[in-house]
Order: sequence, then C-alpha cells, then structure tokens
Amino acid sequence: MKWVSLFLAFAFSAPSRAYLRFGCATLSVQRLDPIVEPGKIPSAHVHQIVGGNYFNATIDPKIDVGEKASCTTCSFSEDFSNYWTAVLYFRARNGSYKRVPQYPNALLGSLTGGMTIYYIQESFNSNGKQKMTTFKPGFRMVAGSPANNKAGNKGLTYTCLKDVMTRFPETAEFPKEPCPAGIMANHHFPACWDGKNLDSPNHQDHMFDTGKGGFSVAGSCPASHPVRVPQVAFETMWNTTQFNDKSLWPEDGSQPFVWSHDDRKGYGTHSDYLFGWKGDALQRAMDSSALVSTGLKTQSVALSNKCAVQSSVKEEIDGWMDISHYRFIGSGGLEVSDATEIFGQ
Ligand SMILES: *[C@@H]1O[C@H](CO)[C@@H](O)[C@H](O)[C@H]1NC(C)=O
Ligand SMILES: *[C@@H]1O[C@H](CO)[C@@H](O)[C@H](O)[C@H]1NC(C)=O
Ligand SMILES: *[C@@H]1O[C@H](CO)[C@@H](O)[C@H](O)[C@H]1NC(C)=O
Repeated sequence: MKWVSLFLAFAFSAPSRAYLRFGCATLSVQRLDPIVEPGKIPSAHVHQIVGGNYFNATIDPKIDVGEKASCTTCSFSEDFSNYWTAVLYFRARNGSYKRVPQYPNALLGSLTGGMTIYYIQESFNSNGKQKMTTFKPGFRMVAGSPANNKAGNKGLTYTCLKDVMTRFPETAEFPKEPCPAGIMANHHFPACWDGKNLDSPNHQDHMFDTGKGGFSVAGSCPASHPVRVPQVAFETMWNTTQFNDKSLWPEDGSQPFVWSHDDRKGYGTHSDYLFGWKGDALQRAMDSSALVSTGLKTQSVALSNKCAVQSSVKEEIDGWMDISHYRFIGSGGLEVSDATEIFGQ
C-alpha cells in the first residue's frame, strides 16, 4: 500500500504515468542558500529546506550530490535533491513576528512539515509521448525572485485552503481573508532546458518557461531551450490556523502574512531546486511506461522524518521576534543577532 500513497495517478481513471508525486519532510530551517548566495553564512533570509543531507552553504556543481548524501527526507530514498523556499511569518499588531508551521499533504502520510514534490511529464492529467530528459548532477535552478513586486509569475501562486483538499482558485498574491486550513504556496518551475548549462548567472536563463502556468501542458520548447525536462513543482502547506482570528490581524484589515524576504504582498515568492537523484533513478522513472512499476525505492515515514541537517547559523528563528526592537523575544533565543537580518531582502 505504500506505493499507492505516493501517487495520485491511481485515483483517476486517467493515464498511469502522469507524474511522480511524493512528500519530503523538513530537513532544516535556516539561512543558507547554496544557489543564490553560495558560501554565505548566513544568507539574506530564512529558508525551509527538504531533501538530501548534503545540503550546505556551498554545494559545488562539480559534485554529484546523489553520491554524497547519506539520507533524505523524501519518500523516494534515491532522491537526494534539495528543494527549498522562503519561510512564512505571521506579523502581529504589536510588530512581532512568528514563524508559521508547515504541515504535510494529507494524502502522503505523517511526514514532519516539509513539502509535496512533483515531477510532471506532460501535464497533471496526461503523460504525452515526449521523451523527458532528466537533470544532470550539478544542475540547479530558481523560479521567481524576492525582488519581484508585481503579479505575473504564472506558475507561482497561492491557494486559500478551505480544507486540506482545496485546490482552486489560485491567486498571485497572499489570500486577503483567513484560510481555515491554511495557505498553500505553489511553485512550478520551467520545463525547457538549454541542454548545456547546469546553471546560469541569474539561475534562470538556462531554463525557459513556456508560460502556460502550473500543471498544464508545458507546450513546445523553443530552439534556444530545446530539451524538455520534467516540470518540477512544489506545494507547501502553511498552517495559519493559530493566526486566523481576525482580531489579531492589522487594524487596517490587511493580511498579516509575510515572507522571510520581507514581502507582504507575496509577489516575491520563489523556489530553488538542486538536482540530486542517485544515478539514473529519475531518468528510469520518467522512461517507464507506468510510474508505479519503475522500481524506484521508497523508505518509511520514520526514516524520512529522521534525516536532518543541523543549522550552520547560530540564531533563533522561532518564538515571537520583535523587529522594532532588533532582538528576539522568543524563549532562549537571545543569543541572536539583528532580527532585520532574518527578514533580509
Ligand atoms: C558543511 O560544510 C562545512 C565546512 O564548510 C562542514 O564542516 C560541514 O560538515 C558541512 N556540513 C554538511 C552537512 O555536509
Ligand atoms: C505581540 O503579540 C503577540 C500576539 O498577540 C503576543 O503573543 C506577544 O506576546 C506580543 N509581544 C509583546 C512584546 O507584547
Ligand atoms: C494546524 O495548527 C493547529 C493549531 O496549532 C493544530 O491544532 C492543527 O492540528 C494543525 N493542522 C495540521 C494539519 O497540522
């Protein structure tokens, strides 16, 4: 039965190989960013990271992470990739901030926090006939940018969860009203690769987004980026329940959630991917005519939850953090430096 819980394909009469979908528990929550700010300890803002335990301030593109990591928080035990996003905070009336907890996809078992990861072949409901070329060791990419301050990132959206199964509608900015089951952040990466570069200076130009939006057929890849790769997507469930009482929200009625890069609208939502599947496991899965019989190895929830990486940054990120007083007011966190750094740009 473990297989069944990893795939949604079984629930539909639709094709047997639409996509890989699986959960990854939280690996670490800290200020590191080996793609955008390699070597910098701490990086500008807090991230929540899932995947393999080779995660560090620097991950040399010449290194095959799939060979180096020794455990992963993902249900597929050969997936040592790292997946990360910014962290969501609640902003109280008195100017204090508190980290919003994450919870796992209800369909995927009792992982601790983390995210749901997809590798989509053609679209959410179809598998197409195209050959999917999977990523090479060292490959990395970023979708979205913390500097963005307007709508228009098609695959980067939010879902206001009425219950854990709500999937529509999606919005480009944070929901304006309390969401009973929390906020789901959706991150879809582009699916066309230039076929040559493992990375690019802005971590985006080696990829091309056909602009069709999340989970839809990606469309043909242009000559500049001719190689069709699986569309990687993340879903992160932020449990806002404890903050849903509107009397806690700002007096002007605005919504109180803010990304760790100090973004209150949500347009700066972004996500990072660093490939790390072992050997050709992902390619074999994508080539298989039925994902459920690819032979991909899985591991127990207990093993996924056990894998972790200690923070390289000595600071408290939980408790109520008082930005205006430039210090943390959480319990035991007073070693911490300047709270404005947590909310870096
Ligand atoms: C991260 O790199 C440091 C050296 O910069 C090393 O001491 C540490 O063990 C590494 N951590 C992991 C999880 O590989
Ligand atoms: C700020 O507001 C939060 C939420 O109401 C509360 O828990 C916290 O104690 C307050 N902090 C201060 C310094 O008053
Ligand atoms: C969300 O948070 C609330 C309040 O802290 C908690 O009771 C509930 O179990 C959490 N929901 C999930 C799905 O983790």
